[in-house]
Parts: sequence; structure tokens; C-alpha cells
Amino acid sequence: MNIPVVTIDGPSGAGKGTVARNIAFELDFHLLDSGAIYRILGLAAMEQGIAFDDIDGLVALANSLELSFPYDQEHTAIILDGVPLGQKLRNQTVADAASQVAINPSVRKALMDLQRCQARAPGLVGDGRDLGTIVFPDADLKIFLNASVEVRAERRYLELNESGQIVERSVILRDLEIRDIRDRTREVAPLVPADGAHVIDSSEKTVAEVVTEVRELCEAKCLT
Ligand code: DC
Repeated sequence: MNIPVVTIDGPSGAGKGTVARNIAFELDFHLLDSGAIYRILGLAAMEQGIAFDDIDGLVALANSLELSFPYDQEHTAIILDGVPLGQKLRNQTVADAASQVAINPSVRKALMDLQRCQARAPGLVGDGRDLGTIVFPDADLKIFLNASVEVRAERRYLELNESGQIVERSVILRDLEIRDIRDRTREVAPLVPADGAHVIDSSEKTVAEVVTEVRELCEAKCLT
């Protein structure tokens, strides 16, 4: 059976997660937050004292993850071994750890099945960096969601502030720039638009405008 898949890739802070959740909600599809998988791995590595270059340790950890992503229109819950992780993954230290463990080809390979098996009926909307290029190359609709680094840093600043984390704008901007370079220039699965991806720049757009644009693309592909 052919399961319809929509992929939304792009850099951090472009709005992928929110757009993916809204589209999944409208289509009544499953949701995959692939960044959360890398964040969990980064966090678990730090907590368990596994170095970011300890490939065997990271692969064993990757193979042991039991995850699901239940959501409603407002929130995505990340459930690890039956336990909701809450806001634990949403900070700069974990984001940086995620980006570092994500460089490793063996780690990425170990996470492939976990991501692919989220494609279950009636369909899947996933967001990440390489979903349209590597994980779901035959996806029915591929989106590459971009925004200027300044706009993304401002969004991240407001998001962190709202959750009570006080981080200077300049620090967020610098961290995003470092992470962008690492994600875009790594040898395996670098962040690039997939062939046939629709590129959307969200710098000057509201979430609602981007969701409408993606919904229209879904309609054009008869996914609704
Ligand atoms: O989307 P995010 O900010 O939660 O992702 C955190 C890091 O995980 C990101 O900097 C790179 C990595 N990542 C990846 O390499 N591939 C994905 N499909 C998703 C995330």
C-alpha cells in the first residue's frame, strides 16, 4: 500500500515544526519531528557520558529508542519509552549536541528505520533536514522552508523567552550560524532542497500564510 508522505525540510527556526503539525492536523496524518530524534540522542549521550565521536555507543543508543509523536493543533508531544519528554529537548545545549551527533553517517543510518516506520496509514507529515532528500526520496510532496538567519534568531529568541530561558539575541544568532554551517556542509545528508522541492521563504510570512500555501500544494497533489 502506498502511504502518502509530505516532507518539510529546512534550517532551524524556519517554522517547519509548526507548519508540519498544522498540515498533519488538517490532513489527519501522523507526524514525525525528526529533529527531536537527534535531540534525544544528543541529550542521552550527554546524560550517559557517551562522547559525540563514540560511534558504537551512539549507534547502540540510536537502536534502543522507542518513540512516538502524538500531537494536537497546538502541541507536539514527544514520547520516549512511554514517557513524555516535555520541554527538556528545547534548549541551545541540546540543539548543539543534536547537530554534532547528526554529523555521523553510522548514526544517521541507525535512525533511518525508526523514521521510515512512522509512515503509516493514512499518511505522514515529517519535518527535518534530509527527509525529502534521503529518508523519503519518493515523498508525494516536498517542501523546503527557509527564512533569513536574523528572522530565525528572533523567532528562537521569543520562543526561548516564552519558556523562561533568558538567552541573548547575539548568542542565539551565533549558535544558529554555527549550526547552519555544520548542517549544510556535512558530508552525509547535508541540508539542501530535495529535487522537486517547493522552496518557500517564510521570512516575511505568518505561519497561517505558509500553512495555506502548503495546504494548496497538498490539494494540488490530491492529498486532502
Ligand atoms: O530541527 P531541530 O532544530 O530540532 O534539529 C536539531 C538538529 O538535529 C539539527 O541541527 C540537525 C539535526 N537534524 C538532522 O541532522 N536531520 C534531521 N532530519 C533533523 C535534524
